[in-house]
Amino acid sequence: MHIAKVLITDNIDEICTNSLRSAGIHVDVKVGLTKEQLVADISQYDALVVRSQTKVTADVIQAGKPQLKLVGRAGTGVDNIDLKAASAAGVMVLNTPMGNTMSAAEHTCAMIMACSRNIPQGNEALKAGNWKLRSKLMGNELYEKTIGIIGLGRIGREVATRMQAFGMKTIGYDPLVPPQASKEFGVEGLSLEQIWPQADYLTIHVPLIPQTKNLLCDDVFAKCKPGFRVVNVARGGVVDEDALLRALQSGRCAGAALDVFAEEPPQNAALLQHPRMVATPHLGASTVEGQQRCAAEIAAEVVNASQGKTPNGI
Ligand code: NAD
Ligand code: MLT
Repeated sequence: MHIAKVLITDNIDEICTNSLRSAGIHVDVKVGLTKEQLVADISQYDALVVRSQTKVTADVIQAGKPQLKLVGRAGTGVDNIDLKAASAAGVMVLNTPMGNTMSAAEHTCAMIMACSRNIPQGNEALKAGNWKLRSKLMGNELYEKTIGIIGLGRIGREVATRMQAFGMKTIGYDPLVPPQASKEFGVEGLSLEQIWPQADYLTIHVPLIPQTKNLLCDDVFAKCKPGFRVVNVARGGVVDEDALLRALQSGRCAGAALDVFAEEPPQNAALLQHPRMVATPHLGASTVEGQQRCAAEIAAEVVNASQGKTPNGI
């Protein structure tokens, strides 16, 4: 595949630009383009490299034809790329599925702890001079609690082994990981119906696909153990945000921690402001190490593709 010119439209570590340039590829970095600007510019490039901010829609792919041959995603989820349109146009899509696994797993563990021990609420109160709020910030131990892990792929299993170190019982579900396989990393494989009433904590590690949209909804929350907590560092849209707000308001859900939202930036002010809600602005992959790995891996993928080598990502 001939790749002479690459456009980068999101903030991606400079390792990517440097590696591509070292391979003799011309790189333009244009962060913050409007959709119209991207559609106007894309036809000059052989490849487009993005993170999650740029939406690579069917319009962008159409506008890129015939020169655009590859879209590289420096990260895991490819839900910001119209895969159907790319495939119809013969545009290859590559990602770096392992580059930010540890970052996302560690962020999940931090979110589990933050919502168990009210760390953001305590921090906010103390900075506002409110010492007395401490009496209202009673938490729960993780020790001997059960965590249900939905999705036992790369990130789900790293979360499992880390939470086992806190003395948690780890149960989980993944249609592609049979119980004999999950037993090897200490997760008891169960059906979703078995998990809902047993889990004190639920953590989500699935892609956003039609089968997982609103997977956690009113019906599910009604089956969950009273006082459960829910953490989502996967994709917004997997948790029905209105249903989660109802579960928090009714007290059935003791706490929630979300890194990802159906719409980003999130629009659901009532959910964001809920006192038992912990939120981060899609920071799961935002570590120096994770971003450097993704940047290096996506550059290597583009160079490999230009040399006709087999890609590692999708
Ligand atoms: P992965 O592909 O390794 O694992 C996903 C797993 O989900 C697979 O094993 C798959 O079989 C399983 N799955 C699919 N449908 C399911 C269902 N209905 N029920 C249960 N399991 C199901 O992916 P990963 O690298 O572990 O990433 C997991 C998620 O985390 C993705 O959505 C990814 O985009 C997201 N992510 C977010 C951040 C962030 O910054 N917040 C960073 C990295 C990844
Ligand atoms: C991913 O899927 O890799 C994440 O959403 C991280 C990112 O923002 O790139």
